[in-house]
Amino acid sequence: MVVVSKIEDLKAIITSLKSNQKNIGLVPTMGALHKGHLSLIEKSVQENDFSITTIFVNPTQFDKKEDLENYPSTLENDLKLVEKTNCDLVFTPSAEEMYQENLHAEAFYFDGLENEMEGKHRKNHFDGVGTIVKKFFELTQPTKAYFGEKDFQQLQIIKKMVSKNQMPIEIIGCPIFREEDGLAMSSRNARLNKNQRNSAPFIYESLQKASELLKTSTIENVNQWMQQTYKEQTELRLEYFEIADEATLQTATKKESSKKYRAFIAVFAGTIRLIDNISL
Ligand code: PAF
Repeated sequence: MVVVSKIEDLKAIITSLKSNQKNIGLVPTMGALHKGHLSLIEKSVQENDFSITTIFVNPTQFDKKEDLENYPSTLENDLKLVEKTNCDLVFTPSAEEMYQENLHAEAFYFDGLENEMEGKHRKNHFDGVGTIVKKFFELTQPTKAYFGEKDFQQLQIIKKMVSKNQMPIEIIGCPIFREEDGLAMSSRNARLNKNQRNSAPFIYESLQKASELLKTSTIENVNQWMQQTYKEQTELRLEYFEIADEATLQTATKKESSKKYRAFIAVFAGTIRLIDNISL
């Protein structure tokens, strides 16, 4: 496995791969890797001639300085984990390398997908994500790129970016990986204290319960139940819960049999923000 941190070195490798008609699989990550990430990398290794994992904590997608500063960084361990997957290359650029003097996000329009849920609560987040993912796509020219469904809105936005810009890249969404107690795997889980960690599985439990309730109840009632149930939690604070159309991400107020829905949730445990979702 090669570890590269300079764009120039990466470009030389990509040019040679392309001249040999190799398929490239890309897995963009921000490091602090867990089994969910590794499953994406393993899938890429299976499906492509050459796989690239990027490890880069992208400053322009963080709206809060503390969140960026506290984002876990475990590069040495990450490299060991990626090596075991038989990934071919890890790209670990610095912020200067990716942005030079211009540490700013491009402004994107993803047909309104960017204004829903996460977009309402994390200012310019998806401009930052779009900016860095576009840069990685341009640099690595992947045939396929892999993203987890935990960030379902991000996945839909990246699919939109690819289709709007006619990029010849297949975006593969991969299922959420969970701990045994149901908590969705996330790099942020490592920052939870004991009480928060013990309470956090409630997030998925509440999603499952909402999914059950929706079978016999209205969306309005499920929303009310969710608000109420989080009032009884001491370690967790509900930021939002929404049932939305899977394709448009628009908030749903009533069920229509022709549409597919998903429930989305963001919860704070202290200052740590956790998200999850479930197909309904
Ligand atoms: O999902 C993530 O880890 C990040 O948003 C991504 C896609 C690597 C862009 O920085």
